[in-house]
Amino acid sequence: MLNIEQDKSLVNFNTFGFDAIAQSYLAVTSKAELTQAMAYIAQQGLAYQVLSGGSNLLISKYVAGLTLHMQIKGVSVVDENDEHVFVEVGAGENWHEFVEFCVSKEWQGIENLALIPGLVGASPVQNIGAYGVEIKDVLVSLKAYDFEQSRYVELVNQQCGFGYRDSLFKHTQGRYLITAVTFKLNKQPTINVKYKALQDYIDKTVKKEISIQDVFDAVCAVRASKLPDPSVIANAGSFFKNPCVTQQQFDQLLLEEPNIVGYSVANNEVKLAAGWLIDQCGWKGFSEKGVGVYEKQALVLIHTGGATIDDLLDLARKIQQSVFDRFAVQLEIEPQPFPLLANSQI
Ligand code: EPU
Repeated sequence: MLNIEQDKSLVNFNTFGFDAIAQSYLAVTSKAELTQAMAYIAQQGLAYQVLSGGSNLLISKYVAGLTLHMQIKGVSVVDENDEHVFVEVGAGENWHEFVEFCVSKEWQGIENLALIPGLVGASPVQNIGAYGVEIKDVLVSLKAYDFEQSRYVELVNQQCGFGYRDSLFKHTQGRYLITAVTFKLNKQPTINVKYKALQDYIDKTVKKEISIQDVFDAVCAVRASKLPDPSVIANAGSFFKNPCVTQQQFDQLLLEEPNIVGYSVANNEVKLAAGWLIDQCGWKGFSEKGVGVYEKQALVLIHTGGATIDDLLDLARKIQQSVFDRFAVQLEIEPQPFPLLANSQI
């Protein structure tokens, strides 16, 4: 028997803390429950959407149909050899707790992704990344329910269409519901502290040998110094993607803005630091109507209370306009609407 709740508040299930009501809601805690829910959805011809950690979404005030809240747990070693361990993790596991667990086991590979809010099942959807590591670097495969084929499938890394803050799952309109992810981690650590803010922090330590735990601690310290904890200040991390421009556009921008921050990426393009662009337009620390721009990192929009999603989007549009007016660069919003037009996983 499925425990479906009606008119459920989703205020505590989105890190922006906006009021939202789900017409009906089911916490999915096992694959058996999910299979049962799928049969029910098909039988009733219901609209549905999939909610994960709610840390990267723009939630609507009313969410029609059935909201499936993924809470399938479990961490198990599925294979290992002298160099690597392969770990399968349930979609409903908390991402940061999983990172902590791996660090405690001295399994290297995801310590740079410490403190990223959200659950494991959503981590491939936007290919979470920070401090020089993306999830695509360690993901072997994932298991998902394929709504199109009405069956469970397994997709390997190369089938997931990973890109910067992007994957197949953002382009298939909720076709796949991720139930578990398998990661390949190193038993023999290769430390990655190439990211400047991390390197600066590590350089201050007197140690000669840097451990996985040291990198984890450094990432936590650097993040805490500039990103707000969603349990204290409501936010969804970076609100805009870092935009890419051509090398030619970048050279042109440099003539007028000699301090502009950009990094060369593939295809002769340069990725600009959106936080720097927004900062230069004077938005850092701005607030109005219960929404604002975080005082230590202009890329993060915050909700201080009493606002609606429309207030936030109004602010976002003003920021986009001012950045466009000054730099002729269009900023793209990173969090995803919930629900998407079609069935979705966020
Ligand atoms: N900067 C400013 N002012 C600001 C913010 C940034 O001048 O208000 C400058 C910084 O001084 C630095 C540059 O912009 O020179 C880049 O800043 P930072 O190192 O903080 O990284 P980011 O590009 O702003 C990205 C990710 C973060 C991730 C960090 C570290 C995106 C959209 N954001 O931010 O991801 O933690 O790099 O790897 O790619 C997230 O996705 O929620 C998130 C926090």
